[in-house]
Amino acid sequence: MNPAHPREWAELETPVLLVEPAPLARNLARMQARATELGVRLRPHVKTHKSLALWRRQEALGARGITVSTLAEADHFFAHGVSDVLYAACIAPAKLAHALRLRQAGCALTVLVDSVASATAVAEGARAAGQRLEVALEIDTDDHRAGLKPDARELTEVAAALDGPGTHLWGVLTHAGGSYALAEPAALRACAERERAGCVEAAQRLRAAGHECREVSVGSTPTALAATSLAGVTELRAGVYVFHDLVMLGLGVCTREELALSVLTSVTGHQREKGWVLVDAGWMALSRDRGTAAQARDHGYGAVCTLDGRWLEELSFRDANQEHGILVAEPALDVARRFPLGTLLRILPNHACATAAAFPRYVLLDERGHPTSEAWERLNGW
Ligand SMILES: Cc1ncc(COP(=O)(O)O)c(C=O)c1O
Repeated sequence: MNPAHPREWAELETPVLLVEPAPLARNLARMQARATELGVRLRPHVKTHKSLALWRRQEALGARGITVSTLAEADHFFAHGVSDVLYAACIAPAKLAHALRLRQAGCALTVLVDSVASATAVAEGARAAGQRLEVALEIDTDDHRAGLKPDARELTEVAAALDGPGTHLWGVLTHAGGSYALAEPAALRACAERERAGCVEAAQRLRAAGHECREVSVGSTPTALAATSLAGVTELRAGVYVFHDLVMLGLGVCTREELALSVLTSVTGHQREKGWVLVDAGWMALSRDRGTAAQARDHGYGAVCTLDGRWLEELSFRDANQEHGILVAEPALDVARRFPLGTLLRILPNHACATAAAFPRYVLLDERGHPTSEAWERLNGW
């Protein structure tokens, strides 16, 4: 422990995942206000935080139901009383039995499909088990990932495959993940509108063909913050807005003051002649995500800050090994004097979801930026 640091940091064994309360509270309130203003329900994607404490904060502000990316998240949140669960990744056939177990236990689980083959497998599996599953249909509105195009012929064929005793069409869902590649406000607004319009079009086609299509679910953080109208949409899903990160900063959808997550790390050594500072947070702690590489400002493996959150522009996080981070300064800087052994630094992550996944819990800072004894557990793995 560097004697220059306040004593309350001494008990933390680095690397540690830190959350700042003020930006967190602002981020939570801002997204809830957006959903309310746009007239839709907010169904947060808990894959970012995977934490009951954080979900309870979202729920207290008005969020209703959760989105999950794994059935482990569904199990965890359902075991703690959250039963309205949307599993927003197309289901692998082998996971159907798990989904049906959750349903049988009373979880109002909705699963996702994007093909006739998958819809048929879910419908037959649920019928054979004597159960009824709610099923959402994924729509591709930005050529980014999975889903059927809003004008695809198969749309009504999938709905027909779900029209039986084992399944019920819950609605349509889209995620404009392509928004992560856009940094202009006008481009983000246009992407949000394509996301909305494509999903609404798919719902209208299904309804016109005689299928009930109650829900129209859209969202990603950039499009949720850029949308000017969500007419025809019933719910908004967003995840990373809780903490924001350097990728969101690069897209211009948040400011530095809204970055709520950081990794506390210790200086473990130097290569003085090369201007290197070695720290105990490598890619295991920060992830290998290089999401800012394609942006106007590339932050390497993260942005380096002092304990009180001041950006250290003179250090760049150039390389990461499993447990070593290599921070590089101009060789003229005497790094060993400026950042002595044991110095504590904070690293802002490129991608909050990927970084948080390495840690079992969050340590909450207080309003002065000092660590508290409060820690929020999080779930990891599948
Ligand atoms: C299906 C789906 N919905 C919603 C989200 C939330 O997006 P974001 O984290 O940008 O808010 C994601 C994120 O990957 C997703 O995959």
